Amino acid sequence: MYTTLHVLSCLLIPTLTAAISVVPEEIRMDWVSTAEPFRTDCECESGIAPDLSQRVLSLAEFPNDSCLKCYMCCLSTNLNLMNPATYELSVKELVRRVAGVDYVIATKCVNATSGLKNPSEKVYQTSLCIVFSLVQPPISIT
Ligand SMILES: *[C@@H]1O[C@H](CO)[C@@H](O)[C@H](O)[C@H]1NC(C)=O
Ligand SMILES: *[C@@H]1O[C@H](CO)[C@@H](O)[C@H](O)[C@H]1NC(C)=O
Repeated sequence: MYTTLHVLSCLLIPTLTAAISVVPEEIRMDWVSTAEPFRTDCECESGIAPDLSQRVLSLAEFPNDSCLKCYMCCLSTNLNLMNPATYELSVKELVRRVAGVDYVIATKCVNATSGLKNPSEKVYQTSLCIVFSLVQPPISIT
């Protein structure tokens, strides 16, 4: 089981850009409106490049960028997805507030990142885990 998943995730990495563009659009649009009340404050606090904050949720584009990680951490705290004192992510709030995320995805992604100490990195890795869980196969090879 582990080996199969591991191989699959290795195969997915080269196609990251193609794969992430197929998180269903209605889910991405929902993410944008959920974040909107906190967007300006979190842009300011994180120093994220404006073009990147435009793309991150609308295109599910998550480059390895420290300001972007900080931006996502800010949004998560404001949305009560993460406890600011313990840095624990809430499965219940993820399911309630993040479109596309069900209990199975939330539990898997929170578990997978529970060992990370840096809150921005934890939120970032959880976001990537959610994106990969929602990606629909970009092409079928049959
Ligand atoms: C992300 O960027 C940091 C800082 O530039 C670098 O140290 C790290 O290795 C990068 N991680 C990945 C997965 O590319
Ligand atoms: C997540 O961790 C909890 C507590 O350690 C465990 O009960 C649960 O089965 C885990 N879930 C998954 C999907 O790994």
